[in-house]
Amino acid sequence: MIQAAVFGFGNIGSGVVAVLEENREQIARVIPGGIAVKYILDIRDFPDSPYADRIVHDVDVILNDPEISVVCETMGGKEPAYTFSRRALERGISVCSSNKELVEAFGPKLLAAAAEHHCSYLFEASVGGGIPLITPMLNCLVQEKITEVMGILNGTTNYMLTKMQHCGADYGKVLQEAQELGYAERDPRADVEGHDTGRKIAILSSLMCGKTVRYDEISCEGITKITPEDFVFAAQHGYTIRLLGMSRLQEDAVSVLTAPFLVPEGHPLYGVTDVFNGVLVHGTMVDDVMFYGRGAGKLPTGSAVAADMILASRNIGSTVPIAWSEELMPVVPAGERISAFFIRGDKAQEEAVLKALDGKLEAVWEAEDSLEGDETFALVTKEYREKEIYNALEEISGIRSMIRMLPKEA
Ligand SMILES: NC(=O)c1ccc[n+]([C@@H]2O[C@H](COP(=O)([O-])OP(=O)(O)OC[C@H]3O[C@@H](n4cnc5c(N)ncnc54)[C@H](OP(=O)(O)O)[C@@H]3O)[C@@H](O)[C@H]2O)c1
Repeated sequence: MIQAAVFGFGNIGSGVVAVLEENREQIARVIPGGIAVKYILDIRDFPDSPYADRIVHDVDVILNDPEISVVCETMGGKEPAYTFSRRALERGISVCSSNKELVEAFGPKLLAAAAEHHCSYLFEASVGGGIPLITPMLNCLVQEKITEVMGILNGTTNYMLTKMQHCGADYGKVLQEAQELGYAERDPRADVEGHDTGRKIAILSSLMCGKTVRYDEISCEGITKITPEDFVFAAQHGYTIRLLGMSRLQEDAVSVLTAPFLVPEGHPLYGVTDVFNGVLVHGTMVDDVMFYGRGAGKLPTGSAVAADMILASRNIGSTVPIAWSEELMPVVPAGERISAFFIRGDKAQEEAVLKALDGKLEAVWEAEDSLEGDETFALVTKEYREKEIYNALEEISGIRSMIRMLPKEA
């Protein structure tokens, strides 16, 4: 039997305990006796919990117990999560985290500490919640040169965009509904402004490159400016709109961003709706591989953390290797990215826009019945360097939407 501890008995920490307890027999098939939770570190007491007797408030109780060989860090935030994780690794205790903020900021440092002290730092649940993604990428695809990772990585915004797509509701209304259902936080900025997706694509990009792709170097656009009219145009031409994290190797650099995209019908991410997440990984030999499932939630995410705890437990005394160095990976400057855009604007500006985009235009999208009376026009561009599109439109007012597009044949 492995003795374990939980740092942070919130939503995910309690999910981890539930998975380890309820599936003890299942886990015992690979870890004789299963994984027992000996301590739970939290600020609060939980007098009504069946685990009340395991709550501790001093991390040293856990770190000084020689029986403990694995902990999960489900506290969130950078500190004290970083200090506690580092101190555990320095004592040879493996740490399994769901904390994307910490992994993005300190992943390589904690991986180095784990390697030095013959234990593991694992973070499957930090991206894609319950979806097995990082472990398959690093193991089943270890023989591949991965050149692109792209996905829907935030369930809250995907729920909101799905609602806008199907009900024609505006952004404010779907946000309110998502908050009432508990999908969106009272302060929704991390989700709706794309920061959550940005951190996750930073982690996936770093794993793709083996070097560090910093979150603060990633262009981040959210969904706050998406309107029902954008969805109407998109639907009339066989597209929907999704918030994507996208990372593509481009020679010696990586082109990476978080932004809403028009996604064509038939694309594997088109059918990823509601709170679900989907991630496409492209390898040069295997082609596209897709991962799909619940990107958040107590039990799905707890399950992913538990999987890491089992993996670490099966490798006691050694390190589960993850190739991610502190060396910075060059990021393609935003203006140099190659993109096609859907552009919507005031009808009065149509001629000026058409003139400005001379040679860059792919098609004008006529408005159909549902937009009659709305003095708006829409068009789509060819794939161009982004700075050329932005420069061309610099002097023109009345642009209401500019949304990147995935090509139809993708
Ligand atoms: N929720 C999801 O679906 C989901 C999915 C994937 C990843 N994650 C990530 O998982 C992590 C945890 O998320 P969560 O939703 O479980 O958050 P949560 O419900 O707020 O749980 C965090 C727990 O840690 C405790 N804690 C905070 N600081 C502490 C400290 N210094 N010492 C001891 N305990 C401390 C908190 O106590 P207090 O409540 O008293 O502050 C709380 O009980 C975050 O990094 C999050 O991004 C969450």
